Amino acid sequence: MAKIKIGVFGAGRGMTMIRQILHSKEAELVAVCDKYKPLLDACRKEAEACGLYNITYYEKFDDFFNHDMDAVVCANYAHEHAKFGIRLLESGRHIMTECLTMANMAEAVRLIETVEKTGKIYTYAENYCYTPVRWEMRNIYRSGALGELMYAEGEYLHDCSSIWPQITYGERNHWRNLMSSTFYCTHSIGPILYMTGLRPVQVSAFETPNMPFMRNLGTASGSLGMEIVTLNNGAMLKSLHFNIKSTRHSNYQLNGDLGGVQDLGDGRIAVYTEKPGENCRGEYKTYTPAPIVAGTENSGHGGGDFFTTYYFIRSILGDEEARERAIGVYDAVDMCMPGTLGYRSIVMGNQPIKLPNLRNKEERDAWRNDTFTTFPESAGEQYVSNNVHEQIDIPDSVFDEVRRRWEAGEPG
Ligand SMILES: NC(=O)c1ccc[n+]([C@@H]2O[C@H](COP(=O)([O-])OP(=O)(O)OC[C@H]3O[C@@H](n4cnc5c(N)ncnc54)[C@H](O)[C@@H]3O)[C@@H](O)[C@H]2O)c1
Repeated sequence: MAKIKIGVFGAGRGMTMIRQILHSKEAELVAVCDKYKPLLDACRKEAEACGLYNITYYEKFDDFFNHDMDAVVCANYAHEHAKFGIRLLESGRHIMTECLTMANMAEAVRLIETVEKTGKIYTYAENYCYTPVRWEMRNIYRSGALGELMYAEGEYLHDCSSIWPQITYGERNHWRNLMSSTFYCTHSIGPILYMTGLRPVQVSAFETPNMPFMRNLGTASGSLGMEIVTLNNGAMLKSLHFNIKSTRHSNYQLNGDLGGVQDLGDGRIAVYTEKPGENCRGEYKTYTPAPIVAGTENSGHGGGDFFTTYYFIRSILGDEEARERAIGVYDAVDMCMPGTLGYRSIVMGNQPIKLPNLRNKEERDAWRNDTFTTFPESAGEQYVSNNVHEQIDIPDSVFDEVRRRWEAGEPG
């Protein structure tokens, strides 16, 4: 059988997918696009070291777009996945997008309708769902051993300050500098929704002030964002993410009316379960679960990176198990919406906002023209600053210094 021809758009994070496709038996890398040529050169070097010379490298998206490809991995800027992804779907390509799904609600509606209209595969690369421990949490919850979910925590406590020069290059308008405190909620909310199969129905969001250690690197947004989300069974989810000094990188836990599970952060899971009527006399244990597929535990992000590309390729091939395990467009939107609309909650003084279920066609019209976001080009007239509490003007000298550190390979 002919291999699936895949192109990768964005060769920073995209190198993770590129490396996997270079070694795939079912797919071949045919094209790569990045406007920053040194990344293309590095990619070419790796591909040629594997004996692969038939890959075309593009600096311009429009040239890449015309290449003969069945599927595209969008690892471009986080707020431009829907913009480029919709064009690709309409041209008959399957797509996988990196995080996040959309910049605003109008894009969420358009993306969903484009996937429905074209019938092409959309896969969301929410890799934090697939570590061995989080997969085990999913299995335990779905076995019923925890009963009904009452509370969950998803915390992605990634202090990116030391790598800020390497991930924003000193660009004032880089999406990481423009995003709101709640935008990147996917790694905290995504795994909880994936484990439980529940949907978010309401969000109230909060943020800390902009802290000097981030302001001095070029961003004016609140430094830590939190969403308190009500799920469709009435459970509460606390989602916390990004730049905080912490003893842990992440934390995930589920608590039901029969027990709780927690990702201990060191490869182990803690499980407490009791039988109905056995109040507080249940069983507690910790152990190290096996990965979903043996040998993948050392892939990036705790073993999760392998599965996004793997399930994307297998979904295109029609593998039903992969299609069930991959994250499709409705779930992807659910994982991002509490952040998109969470920022509106912050702007409105932390007021609760009802979240639509965009699977239902009749709920879409209310959001079809809602371009509210902190990214000026996507927002148009509904633009809102990423700090509504304080007017912060970051001088050019800050960006000059961040750029200098990026070029010198120095940390933030
Ligand atoms: N899931 C994860 O664990 C994880 C980790 C890191 C990054 N990401 C995601 O990966 C994506 C890429 O992030 P990144 O860290 O590589 O940084 P980035 O967003 O700065 O890089 C995007 C790359 O795409 C290229 N690009 C963007 N628009 C282009 C255009 N119109 N034409 C040509 N090239 C273009 C840029 O030159 C850049 O190299 C983001 O969506 C980010 O959220 C996910």
